[in-house]
This record gives sequence, C-alpha cells and structure tokens, in this order.
Amino acid sequence: MSEQGAFFRSDQVDQQPMRHALLWRLAGYLRPQWASLLALLVLMALGAFLEVLPSELTLRLINRFMGQGSLRGAAPLIAGFFGILVAGFLVSFARYFLLARVGQRAMLDLRVQLFAHLMGRSTDFFHRNPVGRLMTRVTSDVQNLNEMFASGFVAIVGDALSLLAIVGWMFWTHAGMALVALGILPFLLVATEVFRRRAGDAFRETQRRYAAINAFLQEQISGMGLVQVNAQEARSAAQFQTINEDYFQAFLRTIFAYAVFFPVVEFITSGTLAALIFYAGFKLQAGAITWGLLLAFIQQSGRFFRPIRELAERYNVMQTALASSERIFRLLDNQEAIPEDPAAESAAFTREIRFEDVTFAYEEGGRKVVRGLSGVIPRGRRVAVVGHTGAGKSTLINLLMRFYDVHAGRITVDGTDLRRLKVPELRALFGLVLQDVFVFSGTLRDNIVLGRPLDLARLDSVLEQSQLKDLVDRLPLGLDTQVGERGQKLSAGERQLLAFARMLYLEPAVLLLDEATANIDSETEAKIQKVIERVSHRLTTFTIAHRLSTIRDADEIWVLDQGALVERGTHDSLIAQDGVYAKLVRLQFAEGEAA
Ligand SMILES: Nc1ncnc2c1ncn2[C@@H]1O[C@H](COP(=O)(O)OP(=O)(O)O)[C@@H](O)[C@H]1O
Ligand SMILES: [Mg+2]
Repeated sequence: MSEQGAFFRSDQVDQQPMRHALLWRLAGYLRPQWASLLALLVLMALGAFLEVLPSELTLRLINRFMGQGSLRGAAPLIAGFFGILVAGFLVSFARYFLLARVGQRAMLDLRVQLFAHLMGRSTDFFHRNPVGRLMTRVTSDVQNLNEMFASGFVAIVGDALSLLAIVGWMFWTHAGMALVALGILPFLLVATEVFRRRAGDAFRETQRRYAAINAFLQEQISGMGLVQVNAQEARSAAQFQTINEDYFQAFLRTIFAYAVFFPVVEFITSGTLAALIFYAGFKLQAGAITWGLLLAFIQQSGRFFRPIRELAERYNVMQTALASSERIFRLLDNQEAIPEDPAAESAAFTREIRFEDVTFAYEEGGRKVVRGLSGVIPRGRRVAVVGHTGAGKSTLINLLMRFYDVHAGRITVDGTDLRRLKVPELRALFGLVLQDVFVFSGTLRDNIVLGRPLDLARLDSVLEQSQLKDLVDRLPLGLDTQVGERGQKLSAGERQLLAFARMLYLEPAVLLLDEATANIDSETEAKIQKVIERVSHRLTTFTIAHRLSTIRDADEIWVLDQGALVERGTHDSLIAQDGVYAKLVRLQFAEGEAA
C-alpha cells in the first residue's frame, strides 16, 4: 500500500503553484499562433461592441416611437437591430471556431512534445512512474489545459472587453445611472472573493480524490485477473466504494459553495436593479431621463453581471489547469535520461566485450547488485550466466544495453567504454530476447519488422530460422494476421518465437537472451534451442539460463552469486570443480527426476 500511497501523493494538486511563472510558460505555447490570437482579439472587441449596440437602439426605439404610439418610420432602426443580430451571430461563430482551433493546436503541440520527451526517459524513470500517471499527463492534464485556453486565458480577455464596453456605454449615456449601477461592484467583488477561497479549497480536494479514483481503477483493471483469481472482488468493491464516497463528499462541498454563491449574486443583482429603478424614478419624474434610457440600462446591467459571474467559474478552470500544467512541466523538466557523450563514437564490435571490475547498485548508496565483476565475451563465442534468482544476472544485460550506467569499473566494446559510444548504435549491436515478450497490436508482420525497412528476402529467412514458418503457413491470413492487443491471440511459445524472429530481423551482432525459454512448453523450447544453436554459429551469444540443460555446450559459463562472479569455466570443468555450479545442476536434476 505504501507505494500506492506515494503514487497518490505525487499526483496531488499543489496548493501554491507559482502562477506567474506557470502562466508565462503556458503562454509560450500560444505564441506561435499570434496571428490567430490577434484576430481573436479583434473579434472579441467587435463582439463587445455589438453587445452594447442593441441597448442604444432600444433606447431610441422606445423614446421615439412609444410616445408616438405607432411604429411608422421605425423600419431603419428595426432593420439595424436585425443586422446587429446577424453580425453578432457571425462574430460569435468565428470567435468560437478560432478559439477552439487555437486551443486544440496548442494541445496538439504539447501532446507531441510530451510523448517525444517520454521516449527520451531512462529505464529507471519508467520503473518509478506508473503507466497510469504518465497517461494522465498526456491525456487529461493536457485536456485540462485546453479548457483553460478555451474558457480561461482568452475568454477572460473577452469578458474584460465586454465589461469595458458596457461600462463605457453607461457612462457615455448617463453618468449618474452608471454610478448607481456600478455601486454593486464592491459587494460583488467581496462575494466573489469569499466564494473563490471556499470553492478553491473544496475544488482542489475534489481533484485530489478524483486522481485517487483514477489510480485505483488503473491498478485494479490491469490486475483484474489477480483480483478474480483470489476472489477479492468484494474487498476491491468495498475499497472502491470508500474512495468514491470520499470523492462524493468533497464534491458536495464544492457544490455547496456554488449553491450559496449564485443566489447571493442573484440577490445583489436584484438589489442593484431596485436601486436603479428607485433612482431612475426620481429622474423620470423630474424629466431628467427617458423611459428608453431606463430600459436600456436595465438590459445592460443584466449583461454586466454575466462576465463577473463567469469570472468566478473561470477561476476554477484556471486552478485545475494550473495544477495540471504544473504536473506537465514537472514531467517536461525531468531530465532522467542516459547521458550521451557529445563526442560519442560509432559502435563497432569485431573483437570482444569486456566487463572490467564492474560495480553497480540500483540506488545511490544502495545495496550493490553487481560487485567487482570482470569477464570477457569474445566475438563468436557463447557465454552463459547462471545463478540464483536475484543474483544480478538480468542486471548485467541492463548494463550492457546501457539502460543503467555502471558505478565503478567499466564495460568496453573493442576497448571503447560503452559511455563513449552512440547509444542507438550500441543498442543496435544487441538482439535482446526476454522472458516476457511485448507484442504490439497489429499484424504479425508489423510485429517482426517493427517499423524497420521491409526486406522480403530477409523476412522469409528470419521466419525460417525462427521456426515461425509453420505457424504462419497454418494461419489463413499468414503474416497479415492481427495478433490482438498485447498479442493475446498468440500462445506464450508463439510469442517467444516471434521475439526471436523480431530480434533476428534486426541482424544483431550479439544475441542477449534472458531466460528466454523459462515459461514455455518443452516442445517450443526444443524448437528455440534449435534456433539458438543455428544462429549462434554466426553470432556472439550471452545467455542467461534458467534451465541449465540449455547451456551445456557454452564456451564459458559464469556463475553469479550475489553480484559476484564466483566460478567460471565450461560445463565439464565446473562439474569437476564440484562447487556452486555443480550444486545447481544437481538441484535441477533432482527437480527433473521428481517431476
Ligand atoms: N529496477 C530495479 N530497481 C531496484 N532494484 C532492482 C531493479 N531491478 C532489479 N533489482 C534488484 O537487483 C537484484 C538483482 O536483480 P536481477 O539482476 O534482476 O536478478 P536476476 O536476473 O539474477 O534474477 C535483485 O535483488 C533485485 O531486487
Ligand atoms: Mg532476471
């Protein structure tokens, strides 16, 4: 649970985002679209202007024609009214469309940037960050930002322009009435500020709990098989119920703030209307203002409250978005990557790979997983590694592939330190086959070729070598068969053969096998054994073996114990030595007999 706890914590919404810095950085994503933004600004100014025009027309219509008792001669004014409506429609359409486009384009850029950034992270980074959390960064956090672009940033400018237009019109028309209408402002500001604080806290709490729901679901759905096998459904359901109740409670608190705020605003608004009418009553009696002016003012003051009320809502959108942006930027600022020497050299392997007194721990100052290990993998030879679970065997592969860097000593290829080689070239030397094979959804062919140039002759020879031809011939669609998400439609053995085909297609110099035959049936294992035998005449192999029978004729066997190389030699010499290896062999033999 503690790990899950840490996961929830790190997904929390921070209380005090550094707003200005964040906003400034966010604005950076809008900068390339300055032309659209400029157009938006013009459209919004136009929209604000079009909002006050009807009141001006109302005023004239009423003053001129109500007294007259007929609408004769009013046609131009009515046509003007209609024209304004149509223009308002067009402006609002263009504004809406442009706004959405600007927002979506910025999101697109951000998502692409995030994914590219993710691809540059180190193995360690992915060990420590659950998939669900990284998914959230690229999907819903980015979505939150879009809301902000759409109804935050730009819309606030629009609202401000509307307010400006309305206030301007009011003062231009009648300063006294304008002052009465604006008398509401302090009350509204106080109410909004109180609401903002209350709702802000409740809202952040809601967010936090929502993140907990997501994290829980992500974990449970991916582990559903385990839940069902262990009959833990009731317990999981109860946990989910609790998390949801928490969310529900927090949500109610948010809603409470809203439910109080809106009636209060309504109340203040009505009060202002009353004040306007009261004030206007005296002025009307004195003949200082007209009926038309009063009606136009009432119309405008209704409009006046809307942007103010929306500002409060936009505040929440901004809050969410700022929290999201903070998390996104934290991810973008993460620089955990395997460093590449700017003067890195091309990787070539003609002689040998050498471990020289290598020491490594996964955590700084943590337990040493590899201790002072030295050994040579000559080109064209077969080296095998054996040892108990946790001895550090897979770690050697992690170091060879530079998923991690050694802490002391060095690993060299033809005498050059790995750290001085170009990472992609170094990795291309190795063909890695693991116990768990990752299969992408798509066809069998896609999964073998993996986006590399398609070479039909090579593909054919690879199928032959990896014993996959039988399977392909049996399938009605052959290589075009969809393997299903994560290769569900393939058996474990078939997935393993696929991994071999994929690796052979790469034409690597060195074959790295990590317990590649550990969880498959003996028939497939025999097949794979044949594959390995055949290709190992051409390639160098570095095999981590679970079943010792598979490495009997390796040129050299390394016996690892707690990260240290304790024995090395051929099978026969090690048996003669009667040490750790001989014991391991006897143990497996006994197991085999028992089975
Ligand atoms: N990503 C990791 N972070 C921290 N510790 C790890 C990591 N991977 C492996 N270890 C630890 O390092 C030790 C050696 O692991 P590994 O090389 O996978 O062993 P083997 O392959 O021999 O079974 C184990 O104790 C394991 O718990
Ligand atoms: Mg291992």
